[in-house]
Amino acid sequence: MLSTRINTAVAGLQDWFNYRAKAFGPMYRKHMSEYWAPKNFNIWYYFGSLALVVLVNQILTGIFLTMHFKPSAAEFAPGISQAFASVELTIMRDVEWGWLVRYMHSTGASAFFIVVYLHMFRGLLYGSAQKPRELVWLLGMLIYLVLMAEAFMGYVLPWGQMSFWGAKVIISLFGAIPMIGDSLVEWIMGDYLPADATLNRFFALHVIALPLVLLLLVVLHLAALHEVGSNNPDGVDIKKHKDASGKPLDGIGFHPYYTVKDLFGVGFFLTICAFVLFFEPTVSGWFLEHDNFVAANKLVTPEHIKPVWYYTPYYAMLRVVPDKLLGVLTMFGAIAVLFFVPWLDRSPVKSYRYRGWLSKVLLGLFALSFLWLGKIGAGPGTDPVETIIGRVLTFIYFAFFITMPLWSKADATKPVPERVTMHD
Ligand code: HEM
Repeated sequence: MLSTRINTAVAGLQDWFNYRAKAFGPMYRKHMSEYWAPKNFNIWYYFGSLALVVLVNQILTGIFLTMHFKPSAAEFAPGISQAFASVELTIMRDVEWGWLVRYMHSTGASAFFIVVYLHMFRGLLYGSAQKPRELVWLLGMLIYLVLMAEAFMGYVLPWGQMSFWGAKVIISLFGAIPMIGDSLVEWIMGDYLPADATLNRFFALHVIALPLVLLLLVVLHLAALHEVGSNNPDGVDIKKHKDASGKPLDGIGFHPYYTVKDLFGVGFFLTICAFVLFFEPTVSGWFLEHDNFVAANKLVTPEHIKPVWYYTPYYAMLRVVPDKLLGVLTMFGAIAVLFFVPWLDRSPVKSYRYRGWLSKVLLGLFALSFLWLGKIGAGPGTDPVETIIGRVLTFIYFAFFITMPLWSKADATKPVPERVTMHD
């Protein structure tokens, strides 16, 4: 009885929408219930939806932080800015649950990069950047760039020691550009040092401009993916085998199958995040550096100026290259080269499951070089042996991509199955 009433009410609601917005129904089917996703998705396929969850977390917690944050370098008390006080006193101590919202946001920033790095590595592992998903990859890379700018500007806002000195070092990198460098640095800062003007513009960019761009890019990223369909751990095209109705034989509806599977992933992920949040929110200085709990002081330099962990592989490259301009070019080049992966990867098979040992060893070496560079970039940078190792690793990083057209094409391959396999 009750179920009949509910069904009638739901049907009535559907009619109401169909009459007013005919496109909603087909849109829902195209992107949810009839988005045929390969049925062999494994653990690597959790990270896209997890990135979405973190994005939502950052936006929601960011809104609440903005209610109490003061984007001002003006003095609150001697040696303490309004911005610093609004974070460390107001939000962390006075506002009910403010500490939780702040740590959800700061932990979210690192969690974002963890899931995005794993998401990108999955793309390499299963050849997801190859034709026809080049655009999906390119939009992903733009997201990555914007995300890095977004996180950098967010880190400057609390106006702690590392906010100030990090901003100074990073913005000054633009000074290496010949002719216009110095003027550019001044233009970005709006002053001769990071100052109130810098803080104000970074606030505007961090809370509204970049999140809007990020959201737009994520929508385009998913729209581009849904045009061509998802790849999978076997790298086989599921559209080659369809039933009489046109549904791929190896495809299942994204909703409910993957919404439910992804919910499990989200539960697991949030449990880990909760442990970090409640027991070790700074992760010994990796997620929030100790120096940033000290108010910015333009007369005292922190012992080691270094960025947060997700930038350290690139920062290491900057430091191990002896020339400043060359260092800056190497650092930006390391990010730029990733844009070209769809055209550098010439392997006739997508997934590494069916590639030879050479590809596997090289991918492993690349991952190792990125992680090791990250460790070097997080250190003081004073050990000459480490500098030499850093140069070798930087060489491996670039060699991996530059020689990719050769080895990815030349390496042996194994026969790729016609249909997806379910052995994991
Ligand atoms: C805010 C950041 C991002 C979000 C929210 C996001 C979201 C997603 C989602 C939901 C999917 C479908 C599910 C999945 O395949 O895991 C996906 C697929 C994909 N993403 Fe992202 N993504 C982000 C960043 C990136 C970045 C930085 C890259 C690489 C440069 C990238 C490359 C890809 C590729 C190649 C696919 C297709 C994978 C396949 O079908 O095997 N994404 N993304």
